[in-house]
Amino acid sequence: MLQEFNKISKVKGELELPGDKSISHRAVIFSSMANGRSRIFNLSDSEDVKSTRRCFEALGVEFTQGKGFLTVNGKGFKNFAAPTGSLFAGNSGTTARLLSGVLIAQNFKSQITGDPSLSKRPMKRVTIPLTAMGGKISCSENDTLPITITPTEKINAIKYNLPVPSAQIKSSVLIAGLHSDETTSVIEKVQSRNHTEKMLALKVERTGDGIVSYSSRKNYPEVKEYFVPSDISTAAFFIVLTLLSEKSSLVLKNVSLNETRTGYIEVLKRMGGYIETSNKQVMAGEEFGDLFIKSSSLYNVKIPEEIIPNIIDEIPILAVAGIFAEGVFEINNASELRKKETDRIKAICENFRLTGLNVGESEDGFSVSGKSKAISEREQIHFESYGDHRIAMAFGVLSMLLKSGGKVKGFDCVNISNPGFLSQLKKIVII
Ligand code: S3P
Repeated sequence: MLQEFNKISKVKGELELPGDKSISHRAVIFSSMANGRSRIFNLSDSEDVKSTRRCFEALGVEFTQGKGFLTVNGKGFKNFAAPTGSLFAGNSGTTARLLSGVLIAQNFKSQITGDPSLSKRPMKRVTIPLTAMGGKISCSENDTLPITITPTEKINAIKYNLPVPSAQIKSSVLIAGLHSDETTSVIEKVQSRNHTEKMLALKVERTGDGIVSYSSRKNYPEVKEYFVPSDISTAAFFIVLTLLSEKSSLVLKNVSLNETRTGYIEVLKRMGGYIETSNKQVMAGEEFGDLFIKSSSLYNVKIPEEIIPNIIDEIPILAVAGIFAEGVFEINNASELRKKETDRIKAICENFRLTGLNVGESEDGFSVSGKSKAISEREQIHFESYGDHRIAMAFGVLSMLLKSGGKVKGFDCVNISNPGFLSQLKKIVII
């Protein structure tokens, strides 16, 4: 689908966005593993979370949709049903990698597959530690799906140093650790998102080695009520659009404010963005609150290495903010961006080049001058989504800021994280 966006005149209003994708995946996984009925309020309506739900349905878990909540009839440890075919994780890396940590201890054979994009992404990052735990798990020679798992006698605890800062690897190992009486510890040098730790109430401590999270059978999930706050990564597109539009203001209600996800808000504030937080609350360890955003003049700031895992999903939209800010926008130490739903460094750089911008691209980042006169506004640009939801939305936002508007090819991939993006926009933009 080729989606056209006109230049907008301003943003005004209030939105309550759907539930956070990362928290939703985990709410579905943990309630499926618990023994009995859990309820999830405000679950994400994204295709990725539907993939997780479909996989657990194939494992015999029953889901019933109520008014505003989903009831999950969890199977409990070892009671999953053997699936009749392979488990299809769709486009979702979180599904494939976290599910591996669940399946590793089941007494049946299973296989995880995915769509063409997910089938190109690295999987040894989970099969290596899960094998070290005694799991019988493999992926293809090329480091990709399918992942194949055969039953094993016993899952052993492990002490694992994360080779790359990734919440998906960390969570996969911590979930596998739930199948052992001994304590598994995962050590990360740089903090990645900590929803698994918070939602399972795991012990976490800072030591000389780094941040250490512990799991064992005693942390096995129990039935619970989950309230999923609005998705902070989805909020980023609306925040940047508001900051960069004249005479604009926006309220976003009940947004997740987990400190391992709010890095991009800190960056935008340091860039001069007006973003105010209010009505902070905590539920099941997860913080959330309201955001008030106003038009602002931005200037680029240095983005430190330690913050990269925290802002990894928001770099495409931060880069859009960067080209309208004074000075040079520069990202380094972000080679993980090349391993997402598409190579996001390439996707950002190529799309910027279509506007006439001069972009410096390196193996682990890129740089581009802000407030450049080079941006071509004479004719409508057709941006490429590369089938990646965050690229599609970032360049949809850029289109709405250009005099002649713009078009984004393959825009329907936004369904991966936010099927309601266009209808949410309609509520708050004035053309
Ligand atoms: C996620 C972790 C991150 C993030 C992804 C969701 C999660 O991936 O980019 O969108 O829910 O654990 P990595 O673990 O590969 O960094």
